[in-house]
Amino acid sequence: MAVPRSEYLSSIFADGIFANKVLFITGGAGSIGSAQTRAIVHLGANACIIGRSIEKTENAAKEIAKVRPGSKVIGIGGVDVRNFDVLKAAADRCAEELGGIDYVICGAAGNFIAPISNLSANGFKAVMDIDALGTYNTVKATIQYLVESAAKNPNLAPGDGTSGGRLISVSATFHYTGYPLMAAASAAKAAVDSIMASVALEYGPFGVNANSIAPGGVEGSEGMERLGSAVASKKERTECIPSGRWATGRDIADATVFMLSDAAHHVNGTSLVVDGGGWRRHAGY
Ligand code: HXC
Repeated sequence: MAVPRSEYLSSIFADGIFANKVLFITGGAGSIGSAQTRAIVHLGANACIIGRSIEKTENAAKEIAKVRPGSKVIGIGGVDVRNFDVLKAAADRCAEELGGIDYVICGAAGNFIAPISNLSANGFKAVMDIDALGTYNTVKATIQYLVESAAKNPNLAPGDGTSGGRLISVSATFHYTGYPLMAAASAAKAAVDSIMASVALEYGPFGVNANSIAPGGVEGSEGMERLGSAVASKKERTECIPSGRWATGRDIADATVFMLSDAAHHVNGTSLVVDGGGWRRHAGY
């Protein structure tokens, strides 16, 4: 049965705002990535989702395509963002089959809980490589398409519905304070935010916007199910959130839609935190 719109997208966004646009997203079969992709496809875009698992990625693409009859959603599995050549081939295939790339989301991430005494150099490197190098590789593999997308509208009037050339990384808030048991992921997300800032400076003059979205704990996500309870109980974590609840996939999808829409035309080189105010209170967890 189709997922009702209210579960993945607020009613305030008008159908068709992303018509004729193409989204390329790494980690698009994950809980946050699939929520983002579902919303963007619902609003008119076609999409290409990238993942390491072939089966999971292809199945997610088929599921997401159901939100809008006539949509095209390609799933390309077997792609590790640490491998630039494979990733570039996927980006080229996406552009070839869907007619370019207008929006990119760097959503692939790796993380595990380990005290520093048990975090090997290779473990640290694995997380850094997936998050930081993987984000860099994604930028490098797609930036020419984002520049081309932005160039299609050289005299863009903000709000006219034609913006392209948007890059978003799914970041976090760990690195604002540092984070126990997640030294690697915390360092990696700092790098991710920094890469977005550098892209904003380097490619802003070409009409490309690059930003991060920093979710707090997302209900039902792999990160929170597998990792969250190791640092504090769910009850403790919920009590630390001023808004009194965890994020839903829809919270993150809504923020993503805003950041890709013309309404965010002048938002560049920053991070939008979507955590109910939680990071200001978590004081280290
Ligand atoms: C200590 C560990 C470990 C653990 C792996 N390693 N798990 N060390 N404790 N629990 C070490 C290994 O021993 C090895 O080091 C090194 O890390 C690389 O491990 P591999 O298994 O070879 O790496 P790889 O197959 O590339 O897997 C990468 C991974 C894995 C990050 C380790 O967990 C993964 O693929 N995750 C992807 C999915 C994921 O994590 N999603 C959640 C993202 S959530 P040695 O020295 O032995 O060779 C997120 C937000 C979280 O990012 C929010 C939470 C609050």
